[in-house]
Amino acid sequence: MSSDPYGDRGNTDRSIANPHGAGTLRPSPGTGQAMDTASAFLIGDCMTGGYGKGPDILHDCTIAVDKGEIAVIVGPNGAGKSTAMKAVFGMLDVRQGSVRLDGEEITGLSPQDRVVKGMGFVPQTNNIFTSMTVEENLEMGAFIRTDDFSDTMSQIYDLFPILKEKRSQAAGELSGGQRQQVAVGRALMTRPKVLMLDEPTAGVSPIVMDELFDRIIEVARTGIPILMVEQNARQALEIADKGYVLVQGANAYSGTGKDLLADPDVRKSFLGG
Ligand SMILES: Nc1ncnc2c1ncn2[C@@H]1O[C@H](COP(=O)(O)OP(=O)(O)OP(=O)(O)O)[C@@H](O)[C@H]1O
Ligand SMILES: [Mg+2]
Repeated sequence: MSSDPYGDRGNTDRSIANPHGAGTLRPSPGTGQAMDTASAFLIGDCMTGGYGKGPDILHDCTIAVDKGEIAVIVGPNGAGKSTAMKAVFGMLDVRQGSVRLDGEEITGLSPQDRVVKGMGFVPQTNNIFTSMTVEENLEMGAFIRTDDFSDTMSQIYDLFPILKEKRSQAAGELSGGQRQQVAVGRALMTRPKVLMLDEPTAGVSPIVMDELFDRIIEVARTGIPILMVEQNARQALEIADKGYVLVQGANAYSGTGKDLLADPDVRKSFLGG
């Protein structure tokens, strides 16, 4: 926040800035209760901010994930989904709002410090080192660890057997789906407490998408909550405990995956009817 020239200005009291109460999202029209995310395990709460000195991209935007859950963010291209993820990971000036991990305020921390705190992040693009081997990519993922990480690597090879097979091959020679496995594996090398994935199934066939979703569910079952952006909105909401529809940098709809799939407005506008 120190680079924010306006950091000391404006109202930073979340309970006032968010008329629904800090962390509480108004319910989607036609769906159940207002969603109380205030005490979620990881939350970007009422985030407003943009890139550098540019205009705000996010407007009072809240995304969150709780322990044992998969939370999915959907919305049109350019809605600010990746920007919201970057804000939670500390790659963006959050001019208003806060980011909290396990109850701790981390809004001012660098991305690397957030990794140390237990966040794993797979960005939408450039998420592997293409000229390095699969195994070197995983080793790079363990950069903050000083202990023996061979057990973690075997677990990742168990989860993604194809990576074991191709461990000595340059990651750039892998298929799209295999590259995404490398990227997720790399993020898991730090043994994160929470995993953030930006479009893990981008550009892969429907069959590979199903496989990746299965692996993601498997990771979630090991106790790592997952906050992910997905272009395949319908399929993603089917596996989502919570869902967020973002439009123009703001929360448009939120609810359980099931609620959103059943919401006529969400269906019509974002799920193709
Ligand atoms: N590095 C950047 N610098 C300045 N503006 C950016 C930058 N990255 C994104 N933007 C702008 O922020 C807005 C939201 O972009 P963002 O990438 O977050 O959308 P998205 O919802 O992830 O879209 P997509 O579905 O295409 O991935 C867009 O108007 C985009 O032009
Ligand atoms: Mg994006």
